[in-house]
Amino acid sequence: MDVIPTAELHLHVEGALDPELLARFARRNGIAVPDLDPGRYVYADLQQFLDLRDSDLAVMRTEQDFFELAEHYLAQARAAGVVRAESFIDPMVHLQRGVPIEAVMDGFGAAFAAARADGLSCDLIVCFTRDLGADAAQATLDAVPPFRDRFIGVGLDSAEVGWPPALFADIYARAASEGLRLVAHAGEEGGPDYVREALDALHVERVDHGLRAMEDPDLVARIADEQVALTVCPLSNVALRAVPDMAAHPVFAMLEQGVRVTVSSDDPAYFGGGVDENHAALRRAGATEEQLVALARNSFDAAFVDDAERARLH
Ligand code: ADE
Ligand code: ZN
Repeated sequence: MDVIPTAELHLHVEGALDPELLARFARRNGIAVPDLDPGRYVYADLQQFLDLRDSDLAVMRTEQDFFELAEHYLAQARAAGVVRAESFIDPMVHLQRGVPIEAVMDGFGAAFAAARADGLSCDLIVCFTRDLGADAAQATLDAVPPFRDRFIGVGLDSAEVGWPPALFADIYARAASEGLRLVAHAGEEGGPDYVREALDALHVERVDHGLRAMEDPDLVARIADEQVALTVCPLSNVALRAVPDMAAHPVFAMLEQGVRVTVSSDDPAYFGGGVDENHAALRRAGATEEQLVALARNSFDAAFVDDAERARLH
């Protein structure tokens, strides 16, 4: 099956850390190689995945590690049909481990700059790790101005419930005033109120996941009316038990109800593959080629690019 050219708008670069890279970085940095049994990639919920991901990230220490991880994602993404990548990074997780911010921003930034020079349309989005709290998020926003040419926007990720969007309203207002694009994870674990709050308190331009918006018909009507993009990640949603199985994934209802829904891979090394594997899983669950092409068209419409670039992507 041919790959479908698409914009991947919901991808955590740290989530591309596969067993081969894990072993390479661990050896290079003199850290014990983690247990790489495939059984490690089974989760009861979002938190179990985050715990595994955080313990894996202990192998990442140097600018070269960050560069190679991003380079690896970008090569895989190209092969999967990605023609535009807007990719999340989580500096707070690394700073907490004592890694200097320069290693993170320069390593990731240099790989994205190299891919751009090689013809791939791609940009970084700095995420705030919401369960580290608003003060840490504020400190991150304070720390990144020297790297302003490395990223185009801010996002909000990690454990959702108990960390409602409004906690971060002042930080998002400041990011907006600095010309940054705004997105946030909402409605993955949290209910429709979290999605509404991301729109009303943070003024996000896209919602990452947004699944549970579907529980509130008025909210769905608003999202469809305003053409707010939802970046859903089918394999992730099944792996983390946000949905019971692929056939029950709300992407089908979202398309039917006129929502600007897109498909991405979230954390490809942890959930069974890249955007191509997500398309394949949707096909197996009954998605038609027309539906998959509609999802890709939505991704181009939702991308943070200018009109000329959007026309080129289409
Ligand atoms: N960070 C990486 N993947 C995530 C997800 N699916 N939800 C929240 N935070 C994440
Ligand atoms: Zn995510």
